[in-house]
Amino acid sequence: MTYGGTVVKRRVPRVNDLAPLIRFRKPRFDRTQRRLDEAQTVHDLRRIAKRRTPRAAFDYADGAAEDEISLARARQAFRDIEFHPTILRDVSNVGTGWEVLGQPVALPFAIAPTGFTRMMHTEGEIAGARVAAAAGIPFSLSTLGTASVEDVAAAAPQGRRWFQLYMWRNRDRSMALVRRAADAGFDTLLATVDVPVAGARLRDVRNGMSIPPALTLRTVLDAVPRPRWWFDLLTTEPLAFASLDRWSGTVGQYLDTMFDPSLTFDDLGWVKAQWPGKLVVKGIQTLDDARAAVDCGVDGIVLSNHGGRQLDRAPVPFHLLPAVARELGRDTEILLDTGIMSGADIVAAIALGARCTLIGRAYLYGLMAGGQAGVRRAVEILAGQLTRTMRLLGVTCLEELSPKHVTQLRRLAPG
Ligand SMILES: Cc1cc2nc3c(=O)[nH]c(=O)nc-3n(C[C@H](O)[C@H](O)[C@H](O)COP(=O)(O)O)c2cc1C
Repeated sequence: MTYGGTVVKRRVPRVNDLAPLIRFRKPRFDRTQRRLDEAQTVHDLRRIAKRRTPRAAFDYADGAAEDEISLARARQAFRDIEFHPTILRDVSNVGTGWEVLGQPVALPFAIAPTGFTRMMHTEGEIAGARVAAAAGIPFSLSTLGTASVEDVAAAAPQGRRWFQLYMWRNRDRSMALVRRAADAGFDTLLATVDVPVAGARLRDVRNGMSIPPALTLRTVLDAVPRPRWWFDLLTTEPLAFASLDRWSGTVGQYLDTMFDPSLTFDDLGWVKAQWPGKLVVKGIQTLDDARAAVDCGVDGIVLSNHGGRQLDRAPVPFHLLPAVARELGRDTEILLDTGIMSGADIVAAIALGARCTLIGRAYLYGLMAGGQAGVRRAVEILAGQLTRTMRLLGVTCLEELSPKHVTQLRRLAPG
């Protein structure tokens, strides 16, 4: 036979030639672990999560507000970065840790507070807290958590724990929870300020979502290909919440009934006076508000639009970062979330002035894909990407990362 003018001589294959090519793998009986090991990215974990989780629960985690433009833009903003590597640096050893809010972390990200987490997988917050402790990163528990502050502390006593506060209309009740968090050794309070009312999470409305999920004909049919999730739901502790037993409306309707929309900057000082640890404001979306929060004496701010779940078409937090870092980077610690799907995104955020990032869905996709093992895989994937990106950029520690390593391409970045 002739290929491009070259004559190829053929022969009968010999067994000895085949031997070095054969790589039969030992059969693995833990199918969940095998699936997780095969996942190379957080997007892969998301695909597994979608197959294994009932639609209403998956959509509650995956979805955002209105047309979901904020979330899409935030993820696009991270894709639209250009890295500028430096060459011929010795990157044999790379350090990924430093101090965040007064204590060391092994990696510059923390698990974000998420509500109703056990609905996504029965292992819920306990899985997150254990993995975070083992990885040396902080775990944040939401006011709407499905594990108590005491249980989270007991599950990961050596881990670093942050508590997220939503101010209820009944402030005494909110502050009683905050005191319990302090007693249970939580060292940082994240006061979330971007939920004066709930965003319109349309997937939840369309799915007729309730807490816990109701057994309708639709959910029963949805359960057929996802028996494991339903088995877990029915054979473990009933889904219980810090603040309610059962709610037949959407999460949004619940938030509107319970939360205090009259909160102002003055209240931050009042909260600070009652909290012994670090106070961080979560949900800052303009430079002016960042300045006002710093003037209130908080220890840190989280640039965040709540993962696109509140005001749709709100500013992309990552776009806000360079200006806020320039103006306030010396006065406060800047944290950032929304849209992080890879360790490279985290590197870009640190390079542009963030001290730490929060991961919401990236953690939840891991959780839904495989409980605690899935969260471990999510953290492992992010840590691997982060370390590799640092090496390829030619930096050996977080302190060496600087704005010269990253450009935000102009398609979306404000001019
Ligand atoms: C399912 C889900 C529940 C959430 N619940 C809370 C919450 O109870 N309190 C809060 O401050 N933020 C909550 N958030 C927002 C996250 O803390 C974080 O800001 C956001 O997820 C970051 O965006 P990312 O998902 O793209 O990483 C939630 C996010 C998701 C996805």
